Amino acid sequence: RRVLVLNGPNLGRLGSRQPTIYGSTTHAELVSLCEQAGRELGLDVQVRQSDSEADLLHWLHEAADEQLPVVLNAGAFTHTSVALRDAAAARTAPLVEVHISNVHAREPFRHHSYLSAVASGVIVGLGIEGYVLALSWISSVGRDR
Ligand code: DQA
Repeated sequence: RRVLVLNGPNLGRLGSRQPTIYGSTTHAELVSLCEQAGRELGLDVQVRQSDSEADLLHWLHEAADEQLPVVLNAGAFTHTSVALRDAAAARTAPLVEVHISNVHAREPFRHHSYLSAVASGVIVGLGIEGYVLALSWISSVGRDR
């Protein structure tokens, strides 16, 4: 089963970007980690990253059209984008919102997510392991949601 892992703005810079907050794993390594988890879970995982809101919207439309589960780290768009929320709300397959850092322990503007209310669930603050946990949930419980 195909699953989309969608990463938003600045996440392509993982590894060099504020490593004390986001860790030293690069985006390329995150891609390998997700693909490996997918192989173990029997999922065809496709990882995509864009700094453009439009790309993320189009990928969410694709997920809605093809009923694909989604793991979404929308980066800062989490806290700003009604458009991404609307696209996420229009799907039927599971969507797990992931944040590498514990956004609730950071600045107040990171405490609100436009996405959480329309997500199946949220994983926050568990580092890049959050992506693996989200894929694991999708492969088991999330299959029928
Ligand atoms: C993030 C948290 C956001 O607040 C931030 O803008 C990001 C990354 C995370 O994964 O911790 O870009 O989504």
